[in-house]
Amino acid sequence: MLRANDLKSTDHIGEKVTVRGWVYRLRKQKENTFVIVRDERGGIIQSVFPTNNISPNLTIESSVEVTGILNKDARAPEGGYEIRGTNLRVFNISDANYPIGEFQSVDLLLDNRHLTLRARKMIAVAKIRASVLKFARNWFITNDWMEITAPIIVKGAVEGGSTLFKVKYFNNDYAYLSQSAQLYLEAMVFSLGPVWSLTPSFRAETSRTVRHLSEFTHLEAEAPWVDLEDILKVQEQLVSYIVENVIIERQDDFALLKSDISVLKNTRPPFERISYEKAIDFLRSKDFTVVDGNGVNRKIELGDDLNIDSERELSKKHSRPLFVVGYPIAIKPFYVKEDPQNEGYGLTADMLAPNGFGEITSGGMREDNNLSITKKMEKEGLDIKSYQWYLDLRKYGSVPHGGFGLGIERLMRWITKIEDIKDTILFPRTMSRVSP
Ligand code: 4AD
Ligand code: MG
Repeated sequence: MLRANDLKSTDHIGEKVTVRGWVYRLRKQKENTFVIVRDERGGIIQSVFPTNNISPNLTIESSVEVTGILNKDARAPEGGYEIRGTNLRVFNISDANYPIGEFQSVDLLLDNRHLTLRARKMIAVAKIRASVLKFARNWFITNDWMEITAPIIVKGAVEGGSTLFKVKYFNNDYAYLSQSAQLYLEAMVFSLGPVWSLTPSFRAETSRTVRHLSEFTHLEAEAPWVDLEDILKVQEQLVSYIVENVIIERQDDFALLKSDISVLKNTRPPFERISYEKAIDFLRSKDFTVVDGNGVNRKIELGDDLNIDSERELSKKHSRPLFVVGYPIAIKPFYVKEDPQNEGYGLTADMLAPNGFGEITSGGMREDNNLSITKKMEKEGLDIKSYQWYLDLRKYGSVPHGGFGLGIERLMRWITKIEDIKDTILFPRTMSRVSP
């Protein structure tokens, strides 16, 4: 069976062709009825039938199979090809009250996400996403990293306790939904070397922002015997490879989204590295302010975390991603290794996407001193019992190791320039939405 785009060349002109899909547009005239079909991959082809051969019940989104002779006709939309229909087979007449029209509220579209996903823009996003995942996996396979699958139901927090989803477990026990596969990836470097995983991660985010989901797609990697620079190199190569290939493979989908890919062509290593301290200096030079714990607005200073606004300021003039290196230990989780050359600061880095999009990865070297780890766990209020296995990793043959995590939806947001992260994932989960 051919798809619509297979018909858009002179190869099949004059031939009898068949296409399956859904009625995308229906234009009834006295003599002729135009049935524009959207195929299973979002391709569009026009067909035309004598009006008296068409069931008057035919509706938008009815599933059909169109057979006829392919013609070139400059008036036909999307490439100027048209099927002179001889047979229209109907699989299902769609209910006439299809809820998705042109001017619908964001909430209605989200309530009907299972149908909204048939919209051509959503199809383009879904295809770009599939290519991002494909090329990410390709990169790891080509570079000999082993893929692992970490558990989702876990006992310990990785990124602090405040964003944990608690679930009931058997026999009055409890567990959490994983925030990150990192601790399990760390365990696997001892037996598989460089490893990576692609799993959903969960964050009970109470902040409603355009870049937070409560369930996101997390690509994470970890390797033994590396230093921070090695980890940054892996990230810049991986991200460059993904972007370079996706913009070629999905050129038409970017065009459909009216998303300019010319700047993305700059995504080549090396990415600029700027120290956390320099980043704060820069923000201070712009009189950048933050709201402190007491709700008071004050100038940003050393020790403050970067947020969505400061990251925008830092990355808005850049045309390729950049790394902010060496965050204060105090604002990072228990596993971050302190920089022996710079007390109080970690061997850690975030990658910021350019043009103001902000953080897309976090990573760095892992602390291997169990005393420092347990002290920090206590400070974070974590239950050390749940981490004995993790501490064992330092007890039995520890090696310098590190890695990173990349949010697929964050990367999608940047490359497609879709402001709201909800539109980069098929079925978004947020504080106010778990359905469909
Ligand atoms: O910065 P995060 O919290 O770092 C970690 O989880 C590390 N344990 C990863 C590691 O080293 N293996 O999350 C990593 C990335 C972020 O940079 C961001 O891209 C994405 O995951 N992310 C989110 N994406 C969407 N919604 C959220 N609520 C996200 N939280 C993190
Ligand atoms: Mg982070």
